[in-house]
Amino acid sequence: MTKIICVCGARPNFMKIAPIMRAFKANGNFETLLVHTGQHYDENMSKLFFDELNIPKPDINLEIGSASHAVQTAEIMKCFEPVVLDFKPDYVLVVGDVNSTIACGLVAVKLGVKLIHVEAGLRSFDRDMPEEINRVLTDSISDLLFVTEQSGVDNLINEGVNPDRIHFVGNVMIDTLLANKEKAAQSDVLSRFNLEPSRYAVITLHRPSNVDDMEKFEQIISAFEHIEKDIKLIFPIHPRTRNNISKNGLNKRVKAMKNLMLIEPIGYLDFLCLMSNAQLMITDSGGIQEETTILGVPCMTLRENTERPVTITEGTNRLVHITTDDILKHYSEIKNDGQAADNIKTPNLWDGNAAERIAETIANNKN
Ligand code: UD1
Repeated sequence: MTKIICVCGARPNFMKIAPIMRAFKANGNFETLLVHTGQHYDENMSKLFFDELNIPKPDINLEIGSASHAVQTAEIMKCFEPVVLDFKPDYVLVVGDVNSTIACGLVAVKLGVKLIHVEAGLRSFDRDMPEEINRVLTDSISDLLFVTEQSGVDNLINEGVNPDRIHFVGNVMIDTLLANKEKAAQSDVLSRFNLEPSRYAVITLHRPSNVDDMEKFEQIISAFEHIEKDIKLIFPIHPRTRNNISKNGLNKRVKAMKNLMLIEPIGYLDFLCLMSNAQLMITDSGGIQEETTILGVPCMTLRENTERPVTITEGTNRLVHITTDDILKHYSEIKNDGQAADNIKTPNLWDGNAAERIAETIANNKN
């Protein structure tokens, strides 16, 4: 049996770890320990996803919670080290690019345990993003790197990573989407919020570069003030963003938008249903760029760069500058032209079987 510790910590990790845990179980060659760092801890940012996606209850929850980057990363490392010493795994597997990813990765390699990174090689080339630092560092210490798109392979090769360590396997987040699409279609989320298919847009925003920078955040809010006159907006709001709205006196402007619904973060199935039926998405998330590509829903990404270029070259994604004008320009383009459907392809290997390929590769790994 291969002994493996699987790590998850923040919301976008949960949909990635779900198919991996399932594939390890089905493969039969693995003894797993699931560790939740507790980076995200609210019921609707964490437990709800475990219930909906049938992720086994974590064997260990480190209950780290929120703190500055340094403190959060250090606390995770301190608490994770004894877990690794005790379980004595052959591998530690981390996913994505959050602080839990690099913290647990560092602990593993310092103890001489092989590290696996799922979603390796993505690069925004923007070192101001905390996630970019986490990605570059995690990849540089990983023994096995599982990649979602060709750009990831190219980036790793350019950085001098041994090609034998790189495996282009597809996208575990899309495994979860495809496995849950039908179930999500049963959700009553549209009627709960009084929405009609294709007659609303969904917003998510949480990146510090957008919501901690008041000048940019106000540009975005101004754009919403125009768009909501035209179409309903539903905005499941991240705790960081909600805090910033209150802290910066934006409550009044937000409340004045009659067609903007601010709601609490919602579960995976409701969110997938909302996205599937939306006219468009407005977001700064990483994963949503990929999900909308598979769903064929136009996506305006309020960022200057993306680490997921395939969502632009083959998918429905477009980058939008953080100015009111540019947001409105792209909004009217999408409204008038929809998405040029003939350019949209399913990215290579985004077929729902990435986690199986990962399990098989690890089971056969001789290095
Ligand atoms: C983290 C990830 C980011 C990911 C995002 C998804 C890092 C560096 N960032 O950002 O890549 O896209 O998760 O959500 O790891 N909070 C709560 N309840 C929670 C969790 C957080 O109220 O369950 C609040 C706290 O005020 C906290 C703030 O949200 O300080 C930010 O949480 P944190 O985990 O530091 O980063 P995210 O912004 O969520």
